[in-house]
Amino acid sequence: MKTIIEPHKIKMVEPIKLTTREQRVQLIKDAKYNPFLLRAEDVIIDLLTDSGTSAMSSDAWAAMMSGDESYAGARSWYRFRDTVKDIFGFEQIMPTHQGRAAERILFGIMVQPDSIVPNNTHFDTTRANIESCGGKAVDLPCAEASDLESDYPFKGNMDIGALEKLVADKGAERIPLIMVTVTNNSGGGQPVSMANIREISRIARSAGIPFYIDACRFAENAHFIKRCEPGFENTATIDIAREVFSYADGCTMSAKKDAIANIGGFLCTNDAELAQRERNVLILTEGFPTYGGLAGRDLDAIAVGLREVLDENYLDYRLLSTHYVVQHLLDMGIPVIRPAGGHAVYIDAGCFLSHIEPLQYPGQALAVELYIEAGIRGVEIGTVMFGLDPNTGEESPARLELLRLAIPRRVYTQSHMDYVVEAVGIVWQRRAEIRGMRIVKAPQFLRHFTAEFEWVEV
Ligand SMILES: Cc1ncc(COP(=O)(O)O)c(C=O)c1O
Repeated sequence: MKTIIEPHKIKMVEPIKLTTREQRVQLIKDAKYNPFLLRAEDVIIDLLTDSGTSAMSSDAWAAMMSGDESYAGARSWYRFRDTVKDIFGFEQIMPTHQGRAAERILFGIMVQPDSIVPNNTHFDTTRANIESCGGKAVDLPCAEASDLESDYPFKGNMDIGALEKLVADKGAERIPLIMVTVTNNSGGGQPVSMANIREISRIARSAGIPFYIDACRFAENAHFIKRCEPGFENTATIDIAREVFSYADGCTMSAKKDAIANIGGFLCTNDAELAQRERNVLILTEGFPTYGGLAGRDLDAIAVGLREVLDENYLDYRLLSTHYVVQHLLDMGIPVIRPAGGHAVYIDAGCFLSHIEPLQYPGQALAVELYIEAGIRGVEIGTVMFGLDPNTGEESPARLELLRLAIPRRVYTQSHMDYVVEAVGIVWQRRAEIRGMRIVKAPQFLRHFTAEFEWVEV
Protein backbone atom coordinates (compact mmCIF):
# COMPACT_ATOMS: atom_id res chain seq x y z
CA MET A 1 0.00 0.00 0.00
CA LYS A 2 1.23 3.48 -0.88
CA THR A 3 -1.05 5.38 1.49
CA ILE A 4 0.67 6.24 4.74
CA ILE A 5 -1.55 5.55 7.71
CA GLU A 6 -0.99 6.65 11.26
CA PRO A 7 -0.38 3.47 13.30
CA HIS A 8 -2.75 4.68 16.03
CA LYS A 9 -6.40 5.54 16.43
CA ILE A 10 -7.67 8.81 17.86
CA LYS A 11 -9.87 8.67 20.94
CA MET A 12 -9.45 12.16 22.27
CA VAL A 13 -9.39 15.26 20.10
CA GLU A 14 -8.38 18.86 20.59
CA PRO A 15 -10.35 21.24 18.36
CA ILE A 16 -8.38 23.54 16.07
CA LYS A 17 -9.70 27.08 15.82
CA LEU A 18 -9.92 27.90 12.12
CA THR A 19 -9.13 31.52 11.31
CA THR A 20 -9.63 33.46 8.09
CA ARG A 21 -6.86 35.03 6.06
CA GLU A 22 -8.08 38.52 7.07
CA GLN A 23 -7.93 37.57 10.74
CA ARG A 24 -4.41 36.19 10.34
CA VAL A 25 -3.19 39.35 8.60
CA GLN A 26 -4.22 41.24 11.74
CA LEU A 27 -3.04 38.58 14.22
CA ILE A 28 0.49 38.42 12.80
CA LYS A 29 0.62 42.23 12.68
CA ASP A 30 -0.35 42.32 16.35
CA ALA A 31 2.40 39.76 17.00
CA LYS A 32 4.91 42.17 15.42
CA TYR A 33 5.46 39.71 12.57
CA ASN A 34 7.14 37.26 14.93
CA PRO A 35 5.37 33.86 15.04
CA PHE A 36 6.80 33.25 18.54
CA LEU A 37 4.56 36.10 19.76
CA LEU A 38 1.33 34.58 18.43
CA ARG A 39 -1.12 32.90 20.76
CA ALA A 40 -0.96 29.15 20.07
CA GLU A 41 -4.76 29.03 19.72
CA ASP A 42 -4.49 31.35 16.71
CA VAL A 43 -2.33 28.78 14.89
CA ILE A 44 -3.97 26.11 12.73
CA ILE A 45 -0.99 23.77 12.27
CA ASP A 46 1.78 24.41 14.78
CA LEU A 47 5.15 23.31 13.41
CA LEU A 48 7.24 25.55 15.65
CA THR A 49 8.91 22.59 17.34
CA ASP A 50 8.69 18.84 17.91
CA SER A 51 9.94 19.36 21.48
CA GLY A 52 7.45 18.60 24.24
CA THR A 53 4.58 18.83 21.76
CA SER A 54 4.01 15.09 21.18
CA ALA A 55 0.72 13.30 21.80
CA MET A 56 0.99 10.69 24.54
CA SER A 57 -0.71 7.33 24.19
CA SER A 58 -3.50 5.86 26.30
CA ASP A 59 -0.85 3.62 27.91
CA ALA A 60 1.31 6.63 28.80
CA TRP A 61 -1.68 8.45 30.34
CA ALA A 62 -2.62 5.31 32.24
CA ALA A 63 0.94 5.00 33.54
CA MET A 64 0.76 8.60 34.74
CA MET A 65 -2.21 7.68 36.91
CA SER A 66 -0.04 5.12 38.67
CA GLY A 67 2.80 7.60 39.16
CA ASP A 68 4.32 7.33 42.61
CA GLU A 69 4.93 10.80 44.04
CA SER A 70 7.11 9.69 46.96
CA TYR A 71 10.06 12.03 47.41
CA ALA A 72 12.74 9.34 47.41
CA GLY A 73 12.88 5.85 45.89
CA ALA A 74 9.45 6.05 44.22
CA ARG A 75 8.24 3.11 42.12
CA SER A 76 8.13 5.50 39.14
CA TRP A 77 11.87 6.06 39.49
CA TYR A 78 12.61 2.36 39.30
CA ARG A 79 10.39 1.93 36.22
CA PHE A 80 12.12 4.88 34.57
CA ARG A 81 15.64 3.74 35.56
CA ASP A 82 15.11 0.15 34.40
CA THR A 83 13.78 1.27 31.01
CA VAL A 84 16.62 3.74 30.43
CA LYS A 85 19.16 1.08 31.50
CA ASP A 86 17.65 -1.51 29.18
CA ILE A 87 17.79 0.73 26.08
CA PHE A 88 20.77 3.00 26.72
CA GLY A 89 22.84 0.57 28.78
CA PHE A 90 24.63 3.09 31.01
CA GLU A 91 25.36 2.35 34.67
CA GLN A 92 24.57 5.76 36.13
CA ILE A 93 21.26 7.45 35.30
CA MET A 94 20.12 10.86 36.52
CA PRO A 95 16.70 12.33 35.67
CA THR A 96 16.51 16.06 34.89
CA HIS A 97 13.65 18.42 34.12
CA GLN A 98 14.75 18.69 30.47
CA GLY A 99 17.73 18.20 28.16
CA ARG A 100 19.50 21.46 28.82
CA ALA A 101 19.58 20.74 32.56
CA ALA A 102 21.53 17.56 31.82
CA GLU A 103 23.86 19.61 29.60
CA ARG A 104 24.43 22.22 32.28
CA ILE A 105 25.37 19.60 34.87
CA LEU A 106 27.65 17.69 32.47
CA PHE A 107 29.49 20.70 31.02
CA GLY A 108 29.56 22.54 34.36
CA ILE A 109 31.73 19.72 35.68
CA MET A 110 33.74 18.73 32.60
CA VAL A 111 34.35 22.00 30.73
CA GLN A 112 37.05 24.46 31.86
CA PRO A 113 37.97 27.83 30.33
CA ASP A 114 40.12 26.89 27.33
CA SER A 115 38.34 23.54 26.79
CA ILE A 116 37.24 22.57 23.29
CA VAL A 117 34.17 20.39 22.69
CA PRO A 118 33.68 19.00 19.17
CA ASN A 119 30.27 17.88 17.91
CA ASN A 120 28.83 17.09 14.47
CA THR A 121 26.74 20.25 15.06
CA HIS A 122 25.99 21.64 18.50
CA PHE A 123 22.37 22.40 19.26
CA ASP A 124 22.03 26.00 20.53
CA THR A 125 21.53 25.06 24.22
CA THR A 126 24.52 22.69 24.04
CA ARG A 127 26.70 25.40 22.57
CA ALA A 128 25.47 27.99 25.07
CA ASN A 129 26.10 25.68 28.04
CA ILE A 130 29.67 25.00 26.87
CA GLU A 131 30.36 28.66 26.20
CA SER A 132 28.94 29.76 29.54
CA CYS A 133 31.63 27.56 31.17
CA GLY A 134 34.30 29.34 29.11
CA GLY A 135 34.73 26.48 26.63
CA LYS A 136 34.69 26.55 22.84
CA ALA A 137 32.03 24.56 20.97
CA VAL A 138 33.35 23.39 17.60
CA ASP A 139 31.10 22.03 14.83
CA LEU A 140 32.61 19.36 12.56
CA PRO A 141 29.86 18.40 10.09
CA CYS A 142 30.81 16.09 7.22
CA ALA A 143 31.43 17.62 3.80
CA GLU A 144 28.20 16.20 2.32
CA ALA A 145 26.16 18.25 4.84
CA SER A 146 26.78 21.48 2.95
CA ASP A 147 25.69 20.06 -0.42
CA LEU A 148 21.97 20.84 -0.38
CA GLU A 149 21.42 18.89 -3.60
CA SER A 150 23.07 15.66 -2.45
CA ASP A 151 20.94 12.70 -1.38
CA TYR A 152 23.70 11.21 0.79
CA PRO A 153 21.73 9.37 3.51
CA PHE A 154 23.96 10.23 6.50
CA LYS A 155 24.49 13.96 6.22
CA GLY A 156 24.46 14.14 10.02
CA ASN A 157 27.88 12.45 10.18
CA MET A 158 30.88 14.06 11.80
CA ASP A 159 33.94 14.84 9.65
CA ILE A 160 36.31 12.14 10.92
CA GLY A 161 39.42 13.68 9.35
CA ALA A 162 38.62 17.04 10.96
CA LEU A 163 38.11 15.35 14.34
CA GLU A 164 41.47 13.57 14.13
CA LYS A 165 43.15 16.83 13.16
CA LEU A 166 41.50 18.72 16.03
CA VAL A 167 42.67 16.11 18.56
CA ALA A 168 46.20 16.14 17.10
CA ASP A 169 46.43 19.95 16.89
CA LYS A 170 44.83 20.92 20.20
CA GLY A 171 45.78 17.89 22.29
CA ALA A 172 43.49 15.50 24.15
CA GLU A 173 44.02 17.42 27.44
CA ARG A 174 42.02 20.37 26.06
CA ILE A 175 39.13 18.19 24.89
CA PRO A 176 37.12 17.05 27.92
CA LEU A 177 34.63 15.15 25.76
CA ILE A 178 33.62 14.52 22.17
CA MET A 179 29.89 14.73 21.47
CA VAL A 180 27.72 13.62 18.58
CA THR A 181 24.09 14.70 18.15
CA VAL A 182 21.64 12.10 16.82
CA THR A 183 19.91 13.06 14.66
CA ASN A 184 21.75 16.27 13.83
CA ASN A 185 19.01 18.82 14.61
CA SER A 186 20.87 22.02 13.71
CA GLY A 187 22.23 20.33 10.59
CA GLY A 188 18.82 19.59 9.06
CA GLY A 189 17.67 16.67 11.25
CA GLN A 190 19.94 14.33 9.31
CA PRO A 191 21.04 10.98 10.76
CA VAL A 192 24.48 9.75 11.80
CA SER A 193 25.60 6.32 10.57
CA MET A 194 26.76 3.47 12.77
CA ALA A 195 30.06 3.47 10.87
CA ASN A 196 30.59 7.12 11.80
CA ILE A 197 29.72 6.49 15.46
CA ARG A 198 32.19 3.58 15.59
CA GLU A 199 34.93 5.79 14.13
CA ILE A 200 34.27 8.63 16.57
CA SER A 201 34.36 6.15 19.43
CA ARG A 202 37.63 4.65 18.17
CA ILE A 203 39.27 8.10 18.01
CA ALA A 204 37.90 9.07 21.42
CA ARG A 205 39.06 5.84 23.06
CA SER A 206 42.53 5.92 21.56
CA ALA A 207 42.97 9.52 22.76
CA GLY A 208 41.45 8.74 26.18
CA ILE A 209 38.63 11.28 25.66
CA PRO A 210 35.10 10.46 26.89
CA PHE A 211 32.53 10.12 24.09
CA TYR A 212 28.99 11.40 24.70
CA ILE A 213 25.84 11.26 22.62
CA ASP A 214 23.19 13.99 22.53
CA ALA A 215 20.44 11.39 22.28
CA CYS A 216 17.30 13.54 21.73
CA ARG A 217 16.22 11.74 18.55
CA PHE A 218 18.01 8.43 19.10
CA ALA A 219 15.10 6.26 17.87
CA GLU A 220 14.69 8.14 14.59
CA ASN A 221 18.46 7.91 14.10
CA ALA A 222 18.50 4.17 14.82
CA HIS A 223 15.67 3.61 12.36
CA PHE A 224 17.49 5.54 9.63
CA ILE A 225 20.42 3.17 10.22
CA LYS A 226 18.06 0.21 9.82
CA ARG A 227 16.56 1.58 6.62
CA CYS A 228 19.65 3.11 4.98
CA GLU A 229 22.89 1.51 6.27
CA PRO A 230 23.84 -1.79 4.66
CA GLY A 231 24.06 -4.64 7.13
CA PHE A 232 21.32 -3.45 9.51
CA GLU A 233 18.22 -4.34 7.45
CA ASN A 234 17.43 -7.31 9.66
CA THR A 235 18.44 -5.87 13.01
CA ALA A 236 15.71 -4.68 15.35
CA THR A 237 15.79 -0.91 15.79
CA ILE A 238 16.06 -1.27 19.56
CA ASP A 239 19.21 -3.36 19.11
CA ILE A 240 20.66 -0.76 16.76
CA ALA A 241 20.02 1.87 19.44
CA ARG A 242 21.69 -0.35 22.02
CA GLU A 243 24.73 -0.79 19.80
CA VAL A 244 24.99 3.00 19.23
CA PHE A 245 25.10 3.65 22.96
CA SER A 246 27.53 0.78 23.59
CA TYR A 247 30.23 2.87 21.88
CA ALA A 248 29.66 5.87 24.18
CA ASP A 249 30.65 6.75 27.73
CA GLY A 250 27.49 8.68 28.44
CA CYS A 251 24.62 10.70 26.99
CA THR A 252 22.34 13.66 27.51
CA MET A 253 18.70 13.31 26.59
CA SER A 254 15.68 15.52 26.21
CA ALA A 255 12.64 13.32 26.84
CA LYS A 256 10.58 16.00 25.08
CA LYS A 257 11.63 14.45 21.77
CA ASP A 258 12.10 10.69 21.41
CA ALA A 259 10.55 9.79 24.73
CA ILE A 260 7.23 11.16 23.45
CA ALA A 261 6.76 13.00 26.75
CA ASN A 262 5.84 16.62 27.32
CA ILE A 263 8.68 17.29 29.77
CA GLY A 264 11.82 15.62 31.12
CA GLY A 265 15.34 14.55 30.36
CA PHE A 266 18.27 12.60 31.74
CA LEU A 267 22.03 12.39 32.00
CA CYS A 268 23.90 9.08 31.87
CA THR A 269 27.47 7.96 32.38
CA ASN A 270 29.42 4.80 33.15
CA ASP A 271 31.83 6.71 35.40
CA ALA A 272 30.71 6.25 39.02
CA GLU A 273 33.05 8.90 40.41
CA LEU A 274 31.84 11.49 37.85
CA ALA A 275 28.23 10.53 38.54
CA GLN A 276 28.74 11.26 42.23
CA ARG A 277 29.87 14.79 41.41
CA GLU A 278 26.99 15.18 38.97
CA ARG A 279 24.50 14.02 41.60
CA ASN A 280 25.79 16.67 43.98
CA VAL A 281 24.89 19.34 41.42
CA LEU A 282 21.64 17.54 40.60
CA ILE A 283 20.53 17.76 44.22
CA LEU A 284 21.48 21.42 44.33
CA THR A 285 19.62 22.49 41.19
CA GLU A 286 17.15 19.80 40.05
CA GLY A 287 16.11 17.63 42.96
CA PHE A 288 16.80 14.36 44.75
CA PRO A 289 18.52 11.85 42.39
CA THR A 290 15.46 9.60 42.13
CA TYR A 291 13.25 12.35 40.69
CA GLY A 292 15.60 15.10 39.40
CA GLY A 293 13.06 17.87 38.90
CA LEU A 294 10.27 15.63 37.60
CA ALA A 295 7.04 14.37 39.10
CA GLY A 296 6.76 10.59 39.50
CA ARG A 297 4.08 10.59 36.82
CA ASP A 298 6.47 12.24 34.35
CA LEU A 299 9.03 9.49 34.98
CA ASP A 300 6.33 6.93 34.18
CA ALA A 301 5.29 8.73 30.99
CA ILE A 302 8.93 8.71 29.85
CA ALA A 303 9.31 5.01 30.65
CA VAL A 304 6.32 4.20 28.44
CA GLY A 305 7.28 6.67 25.71
CA LEU A 306 10.79 5.24 25.38
CA ARG A 307 9.31 1.84 24.58
CA GLU A 308 6.66 3.20 22.20
CA VAL A 309 9.11 5.32 20.24
CA LEU A 310 11.03 2.17 19.28
CA ASP A 311 7.96 0.55 17.73
CA GLU A 312 9.10 0.04 14.14
CA ASN A 313 5.64 0.65 12.69
CA TYR A 314 5.59 4.01 14.42
CA LEU A 315 9.09 4.82 13.17
CA ASP A 316 8.28 3.77 9.60
CA TYR A 317 5.27 6.08 9.65
CA ARG A 318 7.27 8.89 11.24
CA LEU A 319 10.08 8.82 8.67
CA LEU A 320 7.70 8.23 5.77
CA SER A 321 5.42 11.09 6.64
CA THR A 322 8.31 13.57 6.83
CA HIS A 323 9.64 12.16 3.57
CA TYR A 324 6.16 12.55 2.02
CA VAL A 325 6.10 16.29 2.68
CA VAL A 326 9.68 16.78 1.45
CA GLN A 327 9.05 14.78 -1.72
CA HIS A 328 5.87 16.69 -2.58
CA LEU A 329 7.63 20.02 -2.09
CA LEU A 330 10.55 18.87 -4.25
CA ASP A 331 8.10 17.73 -6.93
CA MET A 332 6.77 21.29 -7.10
CA GLY A 333 10.34 22.56 -7.54
CA ILE A 334 10.48 24.03 -4.04
CA PRO A 335 13.99 24.14 -2.54
CA VAL A 336 14.08 21.88 0.51
CA ILE A 337 16.96 20.23 2.37
CA ARG A 338 17.24 16.67 1.13
CA PRO A 339 17.05 13.83 1.81
CA ALA A 340 14.26 14.18 4.38
CA GLY A 341 15.37 14.11 8.01
CA GLY A 342 13.29 12.61 10.79
CA HIS A 343 11.53 15.34 12.69
CA ALA A 344 11.33 18.36 10.42
CA VAL A 345 11.17 19.78 6.92
CA TYR A 346 13.70 22.52 6.20
CA ILE A 347 12.75 24.91 3.38
CA ASP A 348 15.69 26.78 1.87
CA ALA A 349 14.19 30.25 2.25
CA GLY A 350 17.28 31.95 0.79
CA CYS A 351 16.60 30.16 -2.48
CA PHE A 352 12.78 30.27 -2.22
CA LEU A 353 12.92 34.06 -1.84
CA SER A 354 16.15 34.66 -3.76
CA HIS A 355 15.13 38.28 -4.41
CA ILE A 356 15.35 39.03 -0.67
CA GLU A 357 18.84 39.62 0.67
CA PRO A 358 19.89 37.84 3.91
CA LEU A 359 19.81 41.02 6.01
CA GLN A 360 16.14 41.40 5.05
CA TYR A 361 15.50 37.96 6.55
CA PRO A 362 13.95 35.72 3.86
CA GLY A 363 13.29 32.95 6.43
CA GLN A 364 11.29 35.33 8.61
CA ALA A 365 9.37 36.69 5.60
CA LEU A 366 8.49 33.14 4.56
CA ALA A 367 7.39 32.22 8.10
CA VAL A 368 5.06 35.23 8.13
CA GLU A 369 3.63 34.46 4.67
CA LEU A 370 2.96 30.83 5.52
CA TYR A 371 1.08 31.92 8.62
CA ILE A 372 -0.97 34.45 6.66
CA GLU A 373 -1.70 31.93 3.89
CA ALA A 374 -2.77 28.99 6.00
CA GLY A 375 -2.21 29.59 9.73
CA ILE A 376 0.89 27.37 9.75
CA ARG A 377 3.62 28.29 12.23
CA GLY A 378 7.26 27.45 11.48
CA VAL A 379 10.51 28.95 12.69
CA GLU A 380 13.25 30.89 10.91
CA ILE A 381 16.68 29.33 11.25
CA GLY A 382 18.89 31.87 9.57
CA THR A 383 20.14 35.41 10.02
CA VAL A 384 17.50 36.38 12.59
CA MET A 385 18.54 33.43 14.77
CA PHE A 386 22.29 33.38 14.15
CA GLY A 387 23.27 36.61 12.38
CA LEU A 388 23.95 38.88 15.36
CA ASP A 389 27.17 38.70 17.36
CA PRO A 390 25.84 39.67 20.79
CA ASN A 391 29.26 40.80 21.98
CA THR A 392 30.14 43.14 19.10
CA GLY A 393 26.59 43.98 17.96
CA GLU A 394 27.67 43.21 14.39
CA GLU A 395 25.26 41.51 12.04
CA SER A 396 26.24 39.23 9.17
CA PRO A 397 24.35 36.67 7.04
CA ALA A 398 23.96 33.18 8.48
CA ARG A 399 25.36 30.20 6.54
CA LEU A 400 21.83 29.15 5.51
CA GLU A 401 18.45 30.88 5.47
CA LEU A 402 15.97 28.19 6.46
CA LEU A 403 12.36 27.89 7.50
CA ARG A 404 11.99 24.81 9.73
CA LEU A 405 8.65 23.05 9.90
CA ALA A 406 9.06 20.65 12.84
CA ILE A 407 6.48 17.89 13.08
CA PRO A 408 5.16 17.02 16.55
CA ARG A 409 4.95 13.24 17.14
CA ARG A 410 1.52 11.66 16.56
CA VAL A 411 -0.29 15.04 16.67
CA TYR A 412 -1.16 15.71 13.05
CA THR A 413 -2.61 13.39 10.43
CA GLN A 414 -1.85 12.74 6.80
CA SER A 415 -4.48 15.29 5.70
CA HIS A 416 -2.83 17.94 7.87
CA MET A 417 0.39 17.21 5.98
CA ASP A 418 -1.45 17.57 2.65
CA TYR A 419 -2.69 20.95 3.87
CA VAL A 420 0.90 21.99 4.64
CA VAL A 421 2.09 20.88 1.19
CA GLU A 422 -0.72 22.80 -0.51
CA ALA A 423 -0.10 25.95 1.54
CA VAL A 424 3.64 26.01 0.81
CA GLY A 425 2.81 25.47 -2.88
CA ILE A 426 0.48 28.50 -2.92
CA VAL A 427 3.11 30.73 -1.28
CA TRP A 428 5.67 29.41 -3.82
CA GLN A 429 3.39 30.55 -6.69
CA ARG A 430 3.25 34.11 -5.40
CA ARG A 431 6.82 34.30 -4.06
CA ALA A 432 7.83 37.20 -6.34
CA GLU A 433 5.44 39.55 -4.52
CA ILE A 434 6.84 38.78 -1.03
CA ARG A 435 8.83 41.57 0.58
CA GLY A 436 11.76 41.41 2.97
CA MET A 437 11.58 42.48 6.60
CA ARG A 438 13.49 44.67 8.97
CA ILE A 439 13.90 44.50 12.72
CA VAL A 440 12.24 47.28 14.66
CA LYS A 441 13.25 46.14 18.13
CA ALA A 442 15.29 43.21 19.45
CA PRO A 443 17.18 42.14 22.55
CA GLN A 444 20.94 41.48 22.48
CA PHE A 445 20.73 37.74 23.15
CA LEU A 446 18.51 35.11 21.49
CA ARG A 447 16.71 37.84 19.60
CA HIS A 448 14.59 35.52 17.45
CA PHE A 449 12.26 34.79 20.38
CA THR A 450 11.10 38.35 20.96
CA ALA A 451 12.28 40.54 18.06
CA GLU A 452 9.70 42.81 16.43
CA PHE A 453 9.59 43.23 12.65
CA GLU A 454 7.99 45.22 9.86
CA TRP A 455 7.94 44.90 6.06
CA VAL A 456 10.57 46.82 4.13
CA GLU A 457 9.21 49.38 1.65
CA VAL A 458 9.43 48.48 -2.03
C1 LIG B 1 19.66 18.21 19.65
C2 LIG B 1 19.10 18.85 20.89
N1 LIG B 1 19.84 18.86 22.01
C3 LIG B 1 19.38 19.41 23.15
C4 LIG B 1 18.15 20.01 23.21
C5 LIG B 1 17.69 20.64 24.50
O1 LIG B 1 16.63 19.94 25.08
P1 LIG B 1 15.52 20.67 26.01
O2 LIG B 1 14.72 21.55 25.12
O3 LIG B 1 14.74 19.55 26.61
O4 LIG B 1 16.27 21.44 27.05
C6 LIG B 1 17.34 20.04 22.06
C7 LIG B 1 16.00 20.69 22.09
O5 LIG B 1 15.41 21.03 21.11
C8 LIG B 1 17.84 19.43 20.87
O6 LIG B 1 17.11 19.41 19.74
